Amino acid sequence: MSHRDTGLLALLKTASNYRLLQRLLLRSDTRRRVVRDILRPYPGCRILDIGCGPADILEDLPADIGAYHGFDMNPGYIEAARRRWGDRGRFECQRVDEASLPEPGSFDIVLATGILHHLDDGDAGRLFGVAHHALRPGGWLVTYDNVYIENQNPLARWLIARDRGQAVRTREGYEALARRLFPRLESIILHDTLRLPYTILVMRCVKD
Ligand SMILES: C[S@@+](CC[C@H](N)C(=O)[O-])C[C@H]1O[C@@H](n2cnc3c(N)ncnc32)[C@H](O)[C@@H]1O
Repeated sequence: MSHRDTGLLALLKTASNYRLLQRLLLRSDTRRRVVRDILRPYPGCRILDIGCGPADILEDLPADIGAYHGFDMNPGYIEAARRRWGDRGRFECQRVDEASLPEPGSFDIVLATGILHHLDDGDAGRLFGVAHHALRPGGWLVTYDNVYIENQNPLARWLIARDRGQAVRTREGYEALARRLFPRLESIILHDTLRLPYTILVMRCVKD
């Protein structure tokens, strides 16, 4: 892990504070746009969410997906997910690894939003390995993380440098990690996800 959660950042360990911050900062259509344009769920698809947090992505997932399986290591987040989303998904409080998953290839879509920038290269490589193991051929992984770019808005750079995640990378840095297992990937930089200047990289990695 490459993560700090002392001082004010410790407040974000609580699901209610995390949700409040998301509500204050995230533009209201950000998640909907990412789901519609990049995640592209379809009726019956099986979704694995690695590091699901309180699983509020379910707000924007259609009701006709086949299954949603969320894993997170934070018990408060999983408790909050179960309380709010009940039978819309299966929520497990554990670090996801290959042993904790059903048989290989049992998911169509894997989500890892806001995680890679918390993981050093070794752990990030393991996360890509888990996603690759979980996906059927032709299935896809979507990642969403803050990123350093050239000529970045200074406030965006300042905010990103103070994130809980201490492994924020450049676009090339994230892509190099992904390409080891997912040579077929596309990525996009988003500048309008928050109500403040901020920079996000979204990658869509397809399993061959
Ligand atoms: C910043 S939160 C993002 C939550 C949610 N995906 C979102 O976009 O709002 C990152 C979460 O990843 C979880 N996490 C990191 N590595 C994990 C792993 N290997 N297995 C399960 N959860 C993990 C942490 O506990 C944390 O709750």
